Amino acid sequence: MKLPPLSLRIKLILSFLAVIAFGGLISLVIGWRLVKNTLIGQAQLKVKHDLSAAWMVFNERLNNVKDLVNLTAARESLQLAVQEGQADVIFKYLDRVRRSYALDFLTLTDAHGQVVVRSSNPHRVGDNQASDELVSLALAGTTVASPQILSAAELQKESPELARRARMKILPTPKAAPRQENIETRGLVLKAAAPLINDQGRTLGALYGGILLNRNYEIVDRVKEIVYKYEKYKGREIGTATIFQHDLRISTNVRNQNGGRAIGTRVSAEVSQAVLVKGQPWIDRAFVVNDWYITAYEPIHNLKGEIIGILYVGMLEKPYLDTTNRLMLTFTGMASLCVVVLLILLYFSTTRIIHPLQEMVTATQRIAEGDLSHKVEVTSADEIGQLASSFNAMVDKLQAANQKLIEWGRTLEKKVEERTRELTAMQAHLIRSEKLASLGKLAAGIAHEINNPLGGILIYSHLILEDTDKNSPHYENLKKIVKETARCKDIVKRLLEFARPREPEFSLLNINEIVEKSLSIVERQALFQNIKIIKRYDSHLPKTVADGAQLQQVFTNIIINAAEAMDGQGTLTIQTATVDNNLHISFTDTGHGISEEDKKRIFEPFFTTKEVGKGTGLGLAISYSIIQKHHGTIEVVSQRDRGATFIVKIPVRTNQDE
Ligand SMILES: Nc1ncnc2c1ncn2[C@@H]1O[C@H](COP(=O)(O)OP(=O)(O)OP(=O)(O)O)[C@@H](O)[C@H]1O
Ligand SMILES: [Mg+2]
Repeated sequence: MKLPPLSLRIKLILSFLAVIAFGGLISLVIGWRLVKNTLIGQAQLKVKHDLSAAWMVFNERLNNVKDLVNLTAARESLQLAVQEGQADVIFKYLDRVRRSYALDFLTLTDAHGQVVVRSSNPHRVGDNQASDELVSLALAGTTVASPQILSAAELQKESPELARRARMKILPTPKAAPRQENIETRGLVLKAAAPLINDQGRTLGALYGGILLNRNYEIVDRVKEIVYKYEKYKGREIGTATIFQHDLRISTNVRNQNGGRAIGTRVSAEVSQAVLVKGQPWIDRAFVVNDWYITAYEPIHNLKGEIIGILYVGMLEKPYLDTTNRLMLTFTGMASLCVVVLLILLYFSTTRIIHPLQEMVTATQRIAEGDLSHKVEVTSADEIGQLASSFNAMVDKLQAANQKLIEWGRTLEKKVEERTRELTAMQAHLIRSEKLASLGKLAAGIAHEINNPLGGILIYSHLILEDTDKNSPHYENLKKIVKETARCKDIVKRLLEFARPREPEFSLLNINEIVEKSLSIVERQALFQNIKIIKRYDSHLPKTVADGAQLQQVFTNIIINAAEAMDGQGTLTIQTATVDNNLHISFTDTGHGISEEDKKRIFEPFFTTKEVGKGTGLGLAISYSIIQKHHGTIEVVSQRDRGATFIVKIPVRTNQDE
């Protein structure tokens, strides 16, 4: 199926929309990444600070243990009791201190490192602790404190209860590195040792004590309390802290599926590699037990500087992601709103662009329908405005060209008509000329042959007539012979005149005068007695080059014809005028007129409607050939019984060579 073509407006809006959508999408992606990175970056910064706070709590507790051990060792009463070997007193005292300050163990050795009093396990004495790095330093006179891993046996010595607390099942944890054993029996302690030195400066022994961190939540909960203030997000605690013994969670407030502390779970392999193996801090998102956290991990070192565990703090990533998503949702919503507003604006702005174009389309349609007067309104000076102006200019030119074409068509029609008329006239004229020429030749031949015998007949009959008595019975007959022969002679003369016309003798003449002369010859004849003659001569008629005698012959012919057509009764109007450098001499009579049929033939030689003996039918034929020699024409306007007008038209010439 072919879709209908899209309108210009839809195309414009769609292309704008594509650009906006593309730009919007890119800025959304960039914006989302930017917001997320900024928020997560800030969260990472915060978690880094949180880890410092956690270290403060951790070290504070270590120092607290150190101070306790140090102060207790410095007590004079304790030194006295040691010097005097009062084991009962020492035990009581140490036991009280241990319980009061929540130490898990507090043990005294002699100067050789042999345990004298073990407050947490009074019956287990006599073992030597000199090999312990802290105790050995204390025996050498230094007070030290450090985190330390204690074996199950050592823990057992300090207290079976501690060994129990430290014993822990290693739980399978997603993302953690594989581990062979599934039970941990060792424990991580914060331990301090201090020398007992008497007034004389003699070392009496060493006092060491500490706390077991396994299943001891004091530090991690305090970190949470200080840093996160038990903040919750959707029912879940945001902040978490953990102490790892190697990769094992021994003290934590990260929760497992059942809501209990995730003791016995392990750190992810990735973090383990970075922190435990490479000894680097880890600040990044990490999968902790069962959720993603923004985390900070740092290694815990023992006195020798070996990595024995990890201190961790982490914040639930979800609140940050949700904030990011909320922000992005708001951003997307606002961007969509902007797009809608833009589309509305676009709709109106495209109207401004499209309206003149639509007008132009309408204009072209109107022009195609033939309305060239339609104009486009020019409303702006931009490209569209220029287009409209050019369009109007084009329409103007088109209109002018069209007008010219119409006029040209009209004149062409007129010219064709004129030409056709001329051609028809020329053809008729040609036919006539040919006819005349052949007739002329024939007539001239005959006339020439009979002219001399006729002359003889006329002379001899005339002589006989003179010799004949008037009373003779032959006299009248002879008279008729003479008259008819004279008539024949006259016909032959005219025939010869027609067939071999003499060349005209041109001179500059006033045509009015020629007309007058012609009239004066015929006027006195009886035929004209009852004919009224009206003369309308143009007194300013220009002179022209012509043969006066020949023109006189023509006019006389026409005047006699008119008088004959009126049968000696009526009005003859003679008019002269100049029309377009032509002289028009017209003769209008009130006679019987000429039929359409005869009109075509009146200029033919020998055409006559007059009775035999009256007309030769040569008058108009001779007249026509004379006027032709004058480069003119004779036209007839007539209808049967309505009179006739003969118009002789000759050009005005001042020089016969023209
Ligand atoms: N004014 C006129 N009114 C009516 N018919 C005319 C007129 N002039 C000429 N004719 C017609 O034209 C014919 C030819 O005229 P044309 O002058 O050539 O010959 P004609 O007058 O008959 O004889 P001719 O002039 O030789 O004595 C005439 O016979 C007549 O029928
Ligand atoms: Mg005549």
